[in-house]
Amino acid sequence: MLFLAVLIAVCSATMPSAVAAQNAGRSGRPDRVVLVTGSTGGLGREVARALAGTGAHVIVHGRDEQRGAALVAEIERAGVGSARFYRADFASFEAVRAFAAAVRRDYQRLDVLVNNAGVWLDSPERQLSADGHEMHFQVNYLSGFLLTRELLPLIEASAPARIVNVTSVAQQPIDFDDVMLDVGYDDGRAYARSKLAQVMFTFDLADELADRGITVVAVHPASMMNTDMVLERGARPRSSVEQGRDAVMRAITSSDVHSGQYYRGLEVARANAQAYDETARARLMRLSEELTGIRR
Ligand SMILES: NC(=O)c1ccc[n+]([C@@H]2O[C@H](COP(=O)([O-])OP(=O)(O)OC[C@H]3O[C@@H](n4cnc5c(N)ncnc54)[C@H](OP(=O)(O)O)[C@@H]3O)[C@@H](O)[C@H]2O)c1
Repeated sequence: MLFLAVLIAVCSATMPSAVAAQNAGRSGRPDRVVLVTGSTGGLGREVARALAGTGAHVIVHGRDEQRGAALVAEIERAGVGSARFYRADFASFEAVRAFAAAVRRDYQRLDVLVNNAGVWLDSPERQLSADGHEMHFQVNYLSGFLLTRELLPLIEASAPARIVNVTSVAQQPIDFDDVMLDVGYDDGRAYARSKLAQVMFTFDLADELADRGITVVAVHPASMMNTDMVLERGARPRSSVEQGRDAVMRAITSSDVHSGQYYRGLEVARANAQAYDETARARLMRLSEELTGIRR
């Protein structure tokens, strides 16, 4: 309860006034715009709801149009904040680029980007994306990398701004000789590598954007939350989606969050050792730019 009160206080400080907030998005010029990828369900949906509750305009994203439309309708009905749904399959770079272009076209600002969309596929068979890359690596990491790069000018123009990468404690070092797991595929290993890649990108991006008013953090929300990702595997949840939401909301709103940090829930934590290896990070950055065709 106390935490909720603090959260609301922090949000009020960083979000528009109550009256302006209620009109955010309806004038076509929202005061505060946040994008939560993968917000048609699970953790992303809870974060989107909480952000809309602070009066923000939320860009809801996912593949499922029905669930996206339902969340937008729910937010609009609540009468605080506003929302709009965009469909984009992160298994395709073309779809990510089109999504980013639509956001640049439709908004003059982007205050917060939450890279949350993710999969943990429940299959022993390796799956490839439309671009021919291992699915976890593309959906969980490369597409967020590409989206962030594509939206960075808009985010920079909105500073002070934040980029929050939703990662996991499940982290394993990337084998640069077999990034796409051609050999010895295992869904847990693939997931954990993609999650460490997000942390490595967080550290590099925070360095790159230091002094530009953009806070970049990675956060592990909570372990084994009661979301589809866990439930559809038949696993027993160990924490609630609300716990994860509170950790992500803290990363988004707290003034006590420091750029370039990895948070485990509410606490600063140490990531897998590879994240502190500058050579490995530089290699991942080069590879990510090559694979996504990004030129800085
Ligand atoms: N669950 C946990 O215990 C846990 C623990 C640590 C970290 N995390 C991280 O938390 C984040 C959210 O997980 P969750 O538990 O909320 O999972 P979830 O309930 O399965 O939700 C995943 C979200 O990602 C979207 N998504 C999945 N594949 C996509 C694709 N190809 N293109 C675009 N969007 C896609 C889904 O939307 P559509 O179906 O509409 O596409 C959905 O909105 C993930 O990054 C996950 O790694 C979760």
